[in-house]
Amino acid sequence: AEGDAEKGEKVFRKCRACHAVGEGAENKVGPQLNGIVGREIAALEGFGYSDALTELAAEKGAWTEEELAAFLEKPRDYAKGTKMSFAGLRKEDERADVIAYLATFTE
Ligand code: HEM
Repeated sequence: AEGDAEKGEKVFRKCRACHAVGEGAENKVGPQLNGIVGREIAALEGFGYSDALTELAAEKGAWTEEELAAFLEKPRDYAKGTKMSFAGLRKEDERADVIAYLATFTE
């Protein structure tokens, strides 16, 4: 189902402690997420990714909407050993909405 970017902005409150997005976004506990839909996995210079995410990058390449949805549902199952300490978004609509929101931020 198509996500709703406005609802996704609210879902993103769950991410903001660790991630910034938008103009001037910088890395925090987690990497900044501008252009994340279609961005190479674990590719930001100067951010210290886990081996888990680096290996995922070698396997999958770039983040598609499908890969993002799978990761966000249960990050620690999808990328075993990830240092993203977040249980995940159980609801499919929350995942679709936050991805739609993130897709509004290109580089
Ligand atoms: C990595 C999204 C919540 C910390 C990532 C990546 C994405 C993402 C797409 C991969 C980035 C890349 O490949 O460059 C989200 C979303 C969240 C969320 C949409 C909310 C629904 C959080 C929270 C934290 C966090 C709450 C901190 C407690 C991290 C860290 C990484 C990461 C540390 C790097 C993971 C690693 O290297 O294994 N996040 N995140 N994230 N996130 Fe999140």
